Amino acid sequence: MGVRPLTEDIFQVGSIDWDRTLFDELIPLPDGTSYNAYVVTDERCALMDTVDPTKTHELLANLTELDAEIEYIIAHHAEQDHSGSIPAVLDIYPEATVVTNPKCKTLLMEMLHIPEDTFMTVGDGDTLSLGEKTLEFIYAPWVHWPETMFTYVKEEQVLFTCDFLGSHLATSQLFVEDMEEVYNPAKRYYAEIMMPFRTSIRSHLEKLDSMEITIIAPSHGPVYDTPSPITDAYKEWVSDAVKNEVVLPFVSMHGSTRDMVDYFIDALMRRDITVKPFNLTTADIGELAMSLVDAATVVIASPTVLTGPHPRAVYAAYLVNALRPKCRFASVIGSFGWGGKMVEMLTQSMQNLHVEFLEPVLVKGHPTEKEFKMLDILADQIYKKHKDITI
Ligand SMILES: Cc1cc2nc3c(=O)[nH]c(=O)nc-3n(C[C@H](O)[C@H](O)[C@H](O)COP(=O)(O)O)c2cc1C
Ligand SMILES: [Fe+2]
Ligand SMILES: [Fe+2]
Repeated sequence: MGVRPLTEDIFQVGSIDWDRTLFDELIPLPDGTSYNAYVVTDERCALMDTVDPTKTHELLANLTELDAEIEYIIAHHAEQDHSGSIPAVLDIYPEATVVTNPKCKTLLMEMLHIPEDTFMTVGDGDTLSLGEKTLEFIYAPWVHWPETMFTYVKEEQVLFTCDFLGSHLATSQLFVEDMEEVYNPAKRYYAEIMMPFRTSIRSHLEKLDSMEITIIAPSHGPVYDTPSPITDAYKEWVSDAVKNEVVLPFVSMHGSTRDMVDYFIDALMRRDITVKPFNLTTADIGELAMSLVDAATVVIASPTVLTGPHPRAVYAAYLVNALRPKCRFASVIGSFGWGGKMVEMLTQSMQNLHVEFLEPVLVKGHPTEKEFKMLDILADQIYKKHKDITI
């Protein structure tokens, strides 16, 4: 992918990864991704982040094409998909200085073994003149690592946000042309990467509100030349508002839990509650994470296996707990044969959630009419709880 101008003096020199299907060996990427890197040209030129090490050759080819002498490499984040090509860039521009905050410097030295004398550290609000243009560094910790920061080019009102506000989306479009195309990839990205840091994100969004921003240039996905569609979407996702929705991850070996799940789906639908079931043997965990962004309630359904939950249910509960969604209510349903601690173990593994746990429904063997009634009672409970919070 060649060099693409963002403005007269700012260029995208990153790489589009059309083929990547998995990130962090965990997150499915149905739409590929991109590793954006930018050069701000001036009397002195600055490179904003680099690319994943698998794409170093593309970044280097773009830098050769642009033919700009890089004096500064601004590192917003130490994760390797953005920092991994810094050593290769330093090989070509040995006089270049890596500009970052002290935390990021330490991580870069530890993770990529970049020599200490290559760095210049900056504080929150510090500026660096490139000649005509000024870079202002803004600390923005915990989106999604402790060292993350942004850079603002004052004269052009361009904000480089690295992972923040980004999307895993491979597209030939430099700028977002239709927010509908980006909304879901951005929400998926938020759900998987940013959701655990809702509180930090809120304060970063407030900071952005007080700034004059024309372009937001993240390090994944297309660039926003109107910031409000993405900042408004983020404001909704980080708000405390939840929707009249139940997320229902389930697994069943011999159909008992499955019959409970089918009945429960119907029971919720009859009460006008949106339900999002995920069969954990095939579910895309990105879809599951996205559904957790808005839902008021999560119910995990599992049989009992070797005294505990089915391992796939353990995985789902672990993930829900780690992503810390804003849901308010949770419960567990499922089946057992002779005994175990399935419900206790699942409940225990979701302690990060600030939820009220509703009475679980546990059935010996295959559910009977009496037990289907218990699922109706749980559905009634959820209906009432949702009404109580006016959703
Ligand atoms: C591999 C395996 C291990 C099991 N371990 C337990 C157990 O430790 N405790 C228990 O009460 N039931 C155990 N069961 C029985 C199941 O929990 C029971 O058959 C349940 O109804 C299955 O639900 P399902 O039809 O949704 O798969 C086990 C079943 C299997 C297949
Ligand atoms: Fe990252
Ligand atoms: Fe990233």
